[in-house]
Amino acid sequence: VSMDICPHKITAICGPSGCGKSTLLHMLGLLMKPDEGKIIINGQEVKEGKDLPAIRNESFGYIFQEYALME
Ligand SMILES: Nc1ncnc2c1ncn2[C@@H]1O[C@H](COP(=O)(O)OP(=O)(O)O)[C@@H](O)[C@H]1O
Ligand SMILES: [Mg+2]
Repeated sequence: VSMDICPHKITAICGPSGCGKSTLLHMLGLLMKPDEGKIIINGQEVKEGKDLPAIRNESFGYIFQEYALME
């Protein structure tokens, strides 16, 4: 996937079931680790040992499809 998401714009991620929409969102929200590559948020690489809930709290809001609780 390669895309630009502009600030203050609404962006929809569309595709057939099973194409990886939820997986992409889970990785952006630091709920899942990619097998390869890096996640960089606000210029900082998200590495092992970082306080993921704190980064998520500051950078990413979620409304889940199903009921979910997270740290
Ligand atoms: N980039 C990818 N490469 C390989 N498998 C992937 C990739 N993205 C998602 N998958 C796998 O495809 C399946 C469906 O992905 P999912 O994110 O649930 O799709 P969607 O939300 O679009 O229906 C999952 O088993 C997931 O692990
Ligand atoms: Mg999905």
